[in-house]
Amino acid sequence: MKTILDLAKAGECLPAEALEDILYRSNSDTHRELFQAASEVKAAHFGNGIYVRGLIEFTNYCKNNCFYCGIRASNKTVERYRLSKEQILDCCFLGYQNGLRSFVLQGGEDPYYSADSIADLVFSVKSLYPDCAVTLSVGEHSFETYRLWKNSGADRYLLRHETADPIHYGRLHPSVLTLKKRMGCLYDLKSLDYQVGCGFMVGSPYQEPKHLAKELLFLKEFQPHMVGIGPFIPHKDTPFREKTGGSLTTTLVMLALIRLLLPDVLLPATTALGTIHPHGRELGIGAGANVCMPNLSPENVRAKYSLYNNKLHSGAESAAEISELARRMNAIGCSIVLGRGDHPSMNLRKE
Ligand code: 5AD
Repeated sequence: MKTILDLAKAGECLPAEALEDILYRSNSDTHRELFQAASEVKAAHFGNGIYVRGLIEFTNYCKNNCFYCGIRASNKTVERYRLSKEQILDCCFLGYQNGLRSFVLQGGEDPYYSADSIADLVFSVKSLYPDCAVTLSVGEHSFETYRLWKNSGADRYLLRHETADPIHYGRLHPSVLTLKKRMGCLYDLKSLDYQVGCGFMVGSPYQEPKHLAKELLFLKEFQPHMVGIGPFIPHKDTPFREKTGGSLTTTLVMLALIRLLLPDVLLPATTALGTIHPHGRELGIGAGANVCMPNLSPENVRAKYSLYNNKLHSGAESAAEISELARRMNAIGCSIVLGRGDHPSMNLRKE
């Protein structure tokens, strides 16, 4: 009879009961075996390379009120900031000088930036650094807006779906936000030929094994190029301040299952993972992750992009941040790849 591990290794979606078994009833040997299988699949596609993207958190203003998020509109205790176009281009310059060829422009849904101003920003980055990939991560927008940004040179888009279950989505967000809308955006982005990243929090309030099982089914169906997952971490100024955070093990198991399900997916070891454990990102890489996103934002704003409490950020300047990352990756037998780091399917297209 096939074991759960066999199914996972074959890249099968696991039903809720099987997930529950592997998450809560397995011993550490089973987990080790799972992480090993995920690492082998990753190595077959990417060797020991870790892709690096420079993350620029350019605004912490947000019009939304997601129950979990520290930069939600009604949190009056956050000190808000916006970076100017010049400041953003300076961040790219520093990243470029340090070898990065992939930038992620991330922000809250901030109406201050018009669709045209973001288009202009993307166009400027791509004009100055034509050999770099630009990823946008600025939330839900219309098909037309996404098209404008794609035509301005954006290569990729990150939009976490947060949960694949509509009822669960409703428990994490105010009713003006719907999973239907979110999924519509993800399919729009796919149809516009972006490399698309979706993702969810592990251990978000009210999440059950059946939801995690649904995540795997959705990922299998949607076939994203990237999947961003990290543990939920409560933030003191949100309605979820008293909720329990997501666990390290559950996050690692989900990373490994995603790697087995989508063998060549781009899978970051996220900042949230690095926040709940001093070696969280290294452990994530050991469970199948193959991307890291060092912060290129100016040092004085990093603490303000406080999605959750104790968010990991060093006071180090970008150059030091990147060399520290390289050192940590080398220490676990990996090496950082300073290139665009496209999804493998894009390279096939170019040939
Ligand atoms: N804990 C962990 N992740 C969070 N995010 C937002 N708030 C939290 C939190 N409290 C994640 C969401 C969002 C991404 C930018 O950060 O998944 O999509």
